[in-house]
Order: sequence, then C-alpha cells, then structure tokens
Amino acid sequence: SKDGFAHYMLKEIHEQPTAVANTIAGRLYNDQVCKYFIDEPIADILKKVKNIHIIACGTSYHAGLVARYWLEAITQIPTQVEIASEYRYRKPVVPDDTLFLTISQSGETADSLAALRFAKTAGYLSTFAVCNVANSSLDRETDVCFLTHAGPEIGVASTKALTTQLTVLALLTLKLAEIKGVDPAVRTNLAKQLRTLPGIINQSLMLNDQIEVIARQIVRRDHALFLGRGVHYPIALEGALKLKEISYIHAEGYPAGELKHGPLALVDENMPVIAVCPNDELLEKLESNIEEVRARGGELYAFVDHKSKHGLANRVNHLIELEASGSFTSPIVFNVPLQLLSYHVAVLRGTDVDQPRNLAKSVTVE
Ligand code: M6R
Repeated sequence: SKDGFAHYMLKEIHEQPTAVANTIAGRLYNDQVCKYFIDEPIADILKKVKNIHIIACGTSYHAGLVARYWLEAITQIPTQVEIASEYRYRKPVVPDDTLFLTISQSGETADSLAALRFAKTAGYLSTFAVCNVANSSLDRETDVCFLTHAGPEIGVASTKALTTQLTVLALLTLKLAEIKGVDPAVRTNLAKQLRTLPGIINQSLMLNDQIEVIARQIVRRDHALFLGRGVHYPIALEGALKLKEISYIHAEGYPAGELKHGPLALVDENMPVIAVCPNDELLEKLESNIEEVRARGGELYAFVDHKSKHGLANRVNHLIELEASGSFTSPIVFNVPLQLLSYHVAVLRGTDVDQPRNLAKSVTVE
C-alpha cells in the first residue's frame, strides 16, 4: 500500500532514511566494516584486487559512476564504469586481478545479466554484485552478492534503490580503505558520515514544500539542464534522467566544466539550469560556470549547503539550502531534493508518476 502517500514514488522517497539505516544495520561496528558483511573469504579476494570494472544500466549506472570517484580517491584502485548494453557487445580488455561488479535493483536486467555471464568467461578475479532482490537471477549467478535492504521498490523511477546502492558501495569503499591501510582517522570520518546519513536525508525531505514552489516554475518549460562537478556530476545526470523519465521534460546532465564546449549555446532566459553546489574543493570552479549561465540570462536554481550559499546567493534566482553532510556522503544527500523536484514537476504535469509511458520497472529484454 501507499501508506497515505499519493504515489509509490513519494512513499519510497520518504522511506530512504529507514532504508539506509536498514542497509547499514549490522554492517558497521566501531567504525569498522563487519565480518558479517564482508567475511574472510571475500576480504581475501578484495586484498588481491588491482582494478575494478563496474557494469550497470540507468540509475544503477549512475551509482557506479559515483563509486568510481570514491574508489579511486580513497583506495587508489583504478576503476572503470560502463553501461551494460555497450560493454556486452565490445571486446573489453580484462587486466589481471580485475574485479567485476554489477549493480542492479531488480537483478533481472537483461543487459546486466548478459554482461555478468560474459564476465564469468573473461578471466576476472571474481564477480560481485549489488542488488535489491534476494534470489534474483543476479543474486544466484554472481560469485558474491551484497544486498541492499531498500525493501520492494514499486515506482518505475528508482529512488531508494539508488540511495541504498550507494550506501553499500560506500561500505565496500570503506572496507577496501581498511584493507589498503588508509589512515584510521580518515576511515573513522567516513564511517561517521555513513552513520549520520539517515538523519541528514530526513532533513532533506523537509525541503519538500520549497521544492514544490520551484517545481511550479519548471513545469512550464520544455527543457532543463542539470550541472554538477566531480562526484556530483553523476548526481546531475541522475537528476536529468529522473526528470525526463517521469515528467517527459527533455533534460540533460552535464559536468559544469563542459558548458562552454557546447551546451552553453542552448542557454537563454527559457532554459532552467539546476546546479548541484555543495561546499567542496570544486565550488569556486562551479561558481564561475554558474556565472557563465547567468551572463546568458539562464534561470538558475542552486542546491547549496550553509557554506556554499554565500558565494551563490546573489548569482542565482533560487536557492535551496540542504543540511551540510560530509563530502563522502554528499552525493547521496544532494540526490534527494532532485528526486522531489522531478516528482513534483511530474505531478503538476499530470503524468503517470509511478508508471511512466513506454517504460517497465525491470527491463528483462534487451
Ligand atoms: O533493476 P536495475 O537497477 O538493473 O535497472 C536499471 C535501470 O533500468 C533503472 O535504473 C532505470 O534507469 C530506472 N527506471 C531509472 O529510474
């Protein structure tokens, strides 16, 4: 049942604090990743990993893109991320000691399963998966499966599934950081951020009414541009995917530094530009990208935190302030208001939010 929510999507967005808490429960203790989550045999595989290939589709692919930023920055393990339907039909090179990692909510996505079946013949160290459905084809066929504890996701648009995938990938990053001997103070900080995540997501949900106000402006537009940099670039991609999927507004996500290489030509007073602007080491760069949009009259909507808001307040038309989280969990937190934004735009447009046209929840054919 929808528990009094108008749509499954809205219910599932609101379930995220609990879903994250359930996904972490029993897996993190005293800032260490528990053996119950990653036991000795799995840790032995991880000790050998020299490269990681992540393969997925749609929103799950975006989870992989975020994980690459984490894995390379924190553990220095070279990581590639690829869309399953591309990967399965080329001839990928598999260096020695490469780990294959599939991410899928349903565990039944045809292209992701085909990629896994290929990987099993391609000399990988092992095949790992992140999946929300126990006993799915993916769970049964992969060597190791880490389950997300999101509970059933009914809405076609992936919301709590992504958030819990990222939670599992963060735990995996933390485990690899332990194995690689990353500074314990750094690891403690990452673990703390994970533990406070449910509370911070809860705060983001309280922005609902403010987000509905900006949705009323975006609903009249035919296009939208989402911008982010660094680990928030995949969050911009995800914001755009969600908007097009459920509201049928054409949207694109771009790394903000790419603006002047093409998309800036689209920007005028009719183009809403939605920017993900946490206070991180790329903020100054992002501010100058935002200046480029402003100079062309683009309508700017910035998602900020209490530190990044100062430099942006007089540059943008609309500011939405989130509770500051640490830089590790920040992409998870900033994704939440973007989910609410596409939800409200879709409701205002009167589309079938939970069952958008032409789409299926689980894509079992290629
Ligand atoms: O079940 P999966 O995670 O393998 O599904 C992958 C995509 O089909 C899925 O994420 C799709 O992009 C969503 N509808 C996006 O909201």
